[in-house]
Amino acid sequence: MRIDQETIERIKQTAQVADVIGDYVSLKKKGANLWACCPFHGEKSPSFSVSPAKGIYKCFGCGKAGDAVRFIMDIEGLGYGEALRHLAKKYSIEIQEAPMTDEQQLAQNERESLYIALNYAKNYFQNNLFTHEEGQSIGYPYFKERGFSDKTIKAFDLGYSLESWDAFTKEAIKQGYNIDILEKAGLTIRKPEENKQFDRFRNRVIFPIHNVSGKTIAFGARILKTDKNQPKYLNSPETEVYHKSHILYGIYQAKNAIRAKDVCYLVEGYTDVISLYQAGIENVVASSGTSLTLEQIRLIARFTQNITVLYDGDPAGIKASLRGMDMILEEGLNVKLVVFPEGEDPDSYVRNIGSEAFMQYIAEHSSDFITFKAELFLKEAGNDPFKRAELIKDMVGSIAKIPDSIKRSVFFQKTASLMQIDEGILISESNKITLERTKQKEKDSQRDANRQRLQQDLPSGVSLNSNPSLPPDDVGGGMMSFSEEDEYVGDYPVSNEPQPEPQKVAPVYTATTLHELECIRLLVNHGTKEVDPGVAPGVTLMQYVLGEIDGINFSTPIYQEILTICREKFLQGVVLDTAYFISHHIAEIQNEAINLASEKHVISEEWMSRHEIFVPTEEDKLADMAYTNILRLKKSFNDEYIKTLMKQLTQAKDPQEQNRLLSLFMEAKEVEKQIAKELGTVVVR
Ligand code: UTP
Ligand code: MN
Repeated sequence: MRIDQETIERIKQTAQVADVIGDYVSLKKKGANLWACCPFHGEKSPSFSVSPAKGIYKCFGCGKAGDAVRFIMDIEGLGYGEALRHLAKKYSIEIQEAPMTDEQQLAQNERESLYIALNYAKNYFQNNLFTHEEGQSIGYPYFKERGFSDKTIKAFDLGYSLESWDAFTKEAIKQGYNIDILEKAGLTIRKPEENKQFDRFRNRVIFPIHNVSGKTIAFGARILKTDKNQPKYLNSPETEVYHKSHILYGIYQAKNAIRAKDVCYLVEGYTDVISLYQAGIENVVASSGTSLTLEQIRLIARFTQNITVLYDGDPAGIKASLRGMDMILEEGLNVKLVVFPEGEDPDSYVRNIGSEAFMQYIAEHSSDFITFKAELFLKEAGNDPFKRAELIKDMVGSIAKIPDSIKRSVFFQKTASLMQIDEGILISESNKITLERTKQKEKDSQRDANRQRLQQDLPSGVSLNSNPSLPPDDVGGGMMSFSEEDEYVGDYPVSNEPQPEPQKVAPVYTATTLHELECIRLLVNHGTKEVDPGVAPGVTLMQYVLGEIDGINFSTPIYQEILTICREKFLQGVVLDTAYFISHHIAEIQNEAINLASEKHVISEEWMSRHEIFVPTEEDKLADMAYTNILRLKKSFNDEYIKTLMKQLTQAKDPQEQNRLLSLFMEAKEVEKQIAKELGTVVVR
């Protein structure tokens, strides 16, 4: 169900940021702001600030920032819609559901139906375990043999499926469940040509899989006796509500402990999670036997920055998992590894030695990934210099992925001493890799941009005041938007569109990027203000700027995204204000806005002189600032256009085409001259 806009507003107004955050940390007043130790990263002295006046929080340690809703999303691990509901409950605000389109209604109903059917199945399997004669004689003793207590069995909603072809499906249909829904939920398998339908899970113990907020979304089912012809575990297929690569087994049960302990243990199996949990080690999740995905890492990152991977001692499996380690590093998280003795997995080991000794083992045997890799491969490499060189390169490649330079340097030192090699060599090797990666990225994005531009049939009317660029309806971008609707797919915003990965490498600041940034900064901070009350009373900066740069699109995805939002709303007659962006439900946009609003944007002296970028005191200079910025954007855009034309000219064979391009080129050059002249006369000081 969608929440209507009015209710959303009411929730946002009622949920005062300090009151909401005060439920989780104790805030102390210091100046205009309130301070606490950041609940998102471990720290001893408070760098987490809350501004009741602005309704936002920001941690100067880890950079997390947002408003009350964002705080709930992050701390509870909820989606946008769910966080709103959470707050509505806290403040007893009744939620008015907005009417949905028929299509939304259908999709929504279907997902709801799947959740309901899955929940029914979970209860059914649980009932089998506790009350059915077969469950009592077969399923229940199995769990007991594995050492699971009743409390544990209930905490994980474990169950049992009967030895029958269709006991579940028959009963579900009798209870009124629709066969289509049962099939879509992955519970029933249908063979229409044979007019047959049967249960997917038969004669197995059942491990329900929950999403972050505790809804059952899928099942894993283990066979009871070994059978070479059948897989040990059978899992639900991908469904509308279950995306295997987005979920981690146990996350619902583990999330609070993960945050409290500020570390997440990552294991392979269902039973590893359960045994550790029962032993009092609750901050544990499983990737369920598949290789780790980016989405899974980000899921963990909502609760902690520290992952400790617990593996059983099988070298092949360990090597296969190294790619996952690199991914964790690339996301900026810290990763450690623990290997268990041959033949033991975390489940068996904790049962063998008990939880205290287990924790001690982890403390004594966890190594950072660099030491781990070195030890793993050094044995193999022996004294072979080529193999050693390969290993060093490989390690440097991993270190180069760490976004934080301080962390990187710690690892360089470590590697240098482990491998007995000069640290300087490692660093220069790493710089080479980074440079290559950046170049490749630039090449990729340039190629994309060029392709896009070349495809445009450029109009000939290139002049200062008219549109020197793309057709106005192509507002491009849309890069990171997921609609609110996506939030309701599960609890994690999953969209069917491939989600672009946020830029992790520090963005390459070209002059264009900075002009774009300045434009967005003006729009977000001053969009609603009169740009020049003396000359044009009532004209907002938003109206002025959007009118002037109509048709220009930004090359930086996040700025383009914000620009598009401004344009769309403006067309609807709405001039967005700072508050709107500060409480935006898309985290990237919200973060950008908070940074733009909370600090005066500092651009280095060097940049200012190199690119004539100027940041004067605001407000009273809005008109000049906006005009200068507009000219610079147009200049950037025109420069690009000239480059494109030149390239086309060198490639054009047909004389007529050459002439056409040449006249465009000359027009563009004329525009260049005009802009330069204008820029020269604007007071920018
Ligand atoms: P393991 O074979 O290590 O299983 O697979 P386990 O968790 O130790 O199970 P027990 O102790 O024998 O009961 C690790 C994980 O890989 C997935 C499951 O998620 C399992 O927990 N798996 C394994 C499958 O999905 N299918 C299989 O056939 C085997
Ligand atoms: Mn096991």
